[in-house]
Amino acid sequence: MKVIVVGASGAVGKAAAEALASRHEVIRVNRSSGDLTMDIEDVDSIRAMYQQVGRVDAVVSAVGHGHFGSVDAMSGEQFMLGINHKVLPQVNLVLVGLDHVNDGGCFTLTSGVLNRDPIRGGSCAAAANGALDGFVLGAAVDMPRGIRINSVSPEVLEVSRERYDGFFRGHYHVSNEAVALAYSKAVEGCQTGQVYTVDFG
Ligand SMILES: NC(=O)c1ccc[n+]([C@@H]2O[C@H](COP(=O)([O-])OP(=O)(O)OC[C@H]3O[C@@H](n4cnc5c(N)ncnc54)[C@H](OP(=O)(O)O)[C@@H]3O)[C@@H](O)[C@H]2O)c1
Repeated sequence: MKVIVVGASGAVGKAAAEALASRHEVIRVNRSSGDLTMDIEDVDSIRAMYQQVGRVDAVVSAVGHGHFGSVDAMSGEQFMLGINHKVLPQVNLVLVGLDHVNDGGCFTLTSGVLNRDPIRGGSCAAAANGALDGFVLGAAVDMPRGIRINSVSPEVLEVSRERYDGFFRGHYHVSNEAVALAYSKAVEGCQTGQVYTVDFG
């Protein structure tokens, strides 16, 4: 299969891309490095990326960030950071990508643990994750030409332990291997409308 992985230089995307590359042609797309560069927050940039790559069988997205801070100190603008930097870019990757994915192909988006196991200051991220997981559930029944859509929702990765040090007390840190299995099932499996949680392993 020909597979685009957006965010392939990041913690999550690297785990997905490395596993898939052993069996498929993987095109790594990041903001500033990789086989191709793209700004996923710019729809024209998404369009240009798909035109350069041509038709593909699978698209994986592992990008996004939002606002961290207590709900009683959060503005509406800060809340929207999760929508604008995590939800909308990944949704646009699907909307623009539909014409470039082969029959029976698939999209895999990335959400995260915070809408099922919250931490303080995580309401913006929780909302973004919930929006993405809800989108794949709703979109799955609408997808044309047998195209599937799923999300992967990991716990904090072991490789990201230091980055989030102190914020996820008591949370399990998952291995790259466990994360890679979820992307493998999403891309190489047969299900649609699923949220693949990775809480252990
Ligand atoms: N890490 C974790 O433990 C964890 C756990 C659960 C969920 N998640 C979620 O997984 C997603 C990825 O997280 P991560 O930790 O892997 O992030 P990361 O290590 O910071 O990597 C981010 C990746 O996205 C790319 N990127 C950033 N902005 C972009 C843009 N505007 N256009 C195109 N590519 C862009 C980066 O490319 P450049 O390097 O070129 O900028 C990089 O490849 C996020 O939604 C995060 O919430 C992460």
